Amino acid sequence: MNKKTVRDIDVDGKRVLVRVDFNVPIDKATGRILDDTRIRAALPTITYLREHKARAVLVSHLGRPDGKVVESARLTPVAARLGELLGAAVPCATDVVGPSAQATVDALAPGGVCMLENVRFEPGEEKDDPALAKQLAAFADIYVNDAFGTAHRAHASTAGVAAHLPAVAGFLMEKEIDYLGRVVTNPEPPVAAIIGGAKISSKIAVLQHLLSKVSVLLIGGGMASTFLKAKGVDVGASLVEDDQLATARDVIAEAQRRNVTLGLPADAVVADRFEEGAKSKTVDVSAVPAAWMILDVGPKTVADYEAKLAGVKTVVWNGPLGVAEWEAFAHGSHAIARFLAASGATVVIGGGETVAMVQDLGLAEKYAHVSTGGGASLEFLEGRTLPGVAALLDR
Ligand code: 3PG
Repeated sequence: MNKKTVRDIDVDGKRVLVRVDFNVPIDKATGRILDDTRIRAALPTITYLREHKARAVLVSHLGRPDGKVVESARLTPVAARLGELLGAAVPCATDVVGPSAQATVDALAPGGVCMLENVRFEPGEEKDDPALAKQLAAFADIYVNDAFGTAHRAHASTAGVAAHLPAVAGFLMEKEIDYLGRVVTNPEPPVAAIIGGAKISSKIAVLQHLLSKVSVLLIGGGMASTFLKAKGVDVGASLVEDDQLATARDVIAEAQRRNVTLGLPADAVVADRFEEGAKSKTVDVSAVPAAWMILDVGPKTVADYEAKLAGVKTVVWNGPLGVAEWEAFAHGSHAIARFLAASGATVVIGGGETVAMVQDLGLAEKYAHVSTGGGASLEFLEGRTLPGVAALLDR
């Protein structure tokens, strides 16, 4: 990575404002954190700062409270969980830049960690208001951005604040950029991409960008139906984006022109309705019954995709091959997840649903990298500059 990191700056005894992405799923009724991956992922940076007797002031958003105080979006449960993980109390201010935040920061001892309240309670955050950025910066001597998941947002706490303080990347940010970067810049060839998910429209930029980087492109998820229809296959009642048929044809033609091996489903698990308990059966894609819809790839497709992935050295996967949260339509995604876990290739997994799936399968540790970024990892794979990264000091 060509950006400075927390290792490149003297943090000893300094006050450090750390942007983290603790936007974690929380059960509204109980306040229980359903998945603390993003909190755990920030521990290396926080621990490093503690070891260097820095005072760490953490700032994060949670949800989209839209510039207002929303009680259910307070960060109290997140600070409590972080405290458990660190084995040290993490006081949480009740405001972002007000008197509570000031008192909480002032009370920090060397090696201490505190949290500001949800930064999106401030109307200036999403507007990248320079006044808010300045107020945040006043709490610290150094700014560390470890919030890869929010690096695609140009907000006061992710970008604006870097104008006021020496700004460097945290260890999570560094790891994300290194691994995702390894896919798009100088990857070990051959490189494959597996792109799934419901819609071509949300993945078109990544498909187009990756076509110039990969030798194998495997398509799954709802968007495979649009590709199949574009090739003249009757996909019954499957979800199809009719306004994207031309786009799908372009991708197919571009893959051919570039000699990229394109994988499309040969068979599918079809259902009589879009429901977890729907009646289902496996058919060739040429035999999808009129009123049925494709909800997963079938075993022939899995075998074909595994054959196409054999010998590949680098794989990036974003988006499941079927409706992976429903057991009956998860077989294709699970099979490929297990295959990749045992493949020895450098595998980088991104996208919320794909990440949740490999975690549920207990396979997350088997891959080179599982990204904490959803939208951010997609924008990175589209080749776009992420504002939260651009704002950091160059190495
Ligand atoms: C995410 O969960 O993708 C990040 O935390 C960014 O959240 P946002 O989409 O609300 O900006």
